[in-house]
Amino acid sequence: MRIFLDTANVNQIKQAAKLGIVSGVTTNPSLVSKEGLGDYKAVVQQICAIIPGPVSAEVLVEEAEPMIEQAREIAGWAPNVVIKIPTTAAGLEAISVLSKENVRTNMTLCFSLNQAILGALAGATYISPFVGRLDDIGHNGMELVKDMVDVFTHYQLPAQVIAASIRHPQHCVAAAKAGAHIATVPYNVLMQMIQHPLTDIGIARFASDWQKVSSRSV
Ligand code: G3P
Repeated sequence: MRIFLDTANVNQIKQAAKLGIVSGVTTNPSLVSKEGLGDYKAVVQQICAIIPGPVSAEVLVEEAEPMIEQAREIAGWAPNVVIKIPTTAAGLEAISVLSKENVRTNMTLCFSLNQAILGALAGATYISPFVGRLDDIGHNGMELVKDMVDVFTHYQLPAQVIAASIRHPQHCVAAAKAGAHIATVPYNVLMQMIQHPLTDIGIARFASDWQKVSSRSV
């Protein structure tokens, strides 16, 4: 499973990039507005320059024709931009047009297997089931991830599954076990993935044992 970072915070992306394990970034209008950033294009281009892998930037219109036009424009901002398109009839229309033009898309706000199958048939490069938001309403978000992986594998549909709306490290574990191609994780969850109390205890013990040896040898 690959790890994408789910943020529009450039500092977080720079920090995470240093770890060498982040192979893409996903943003959405809420994440961009949270950063209070004025120039959408400049932010997306900055992120694309930091992370050479796929960087998802979302269209901001709802009708098919303007969506296709905006997607074509955003696709020109950087070679690694992926166009994030919502799961609607207009979105499916846009995805099928754009896939024929070799514009990579990430179908977002996916909440059902039916939606996922349609996105894959339309030619979406990536499809993002929102795990946390399904859990929020008492469903099992990770079941959808697993079903998508199984069905795409069975029918040899090339769309890749991005487990999105990840809220905690256990979601990452479950996404990996479900066979998600990618988990897109907020920065704080990425940091939590690194941590384990036994690692901290182990480091402290090694340091104190080493201290004993080195003080003896002086
Ligand atoms: O990747 C989708 C994500 O940004 C949405 O997360 O926590 O708002 O459901 P959340």
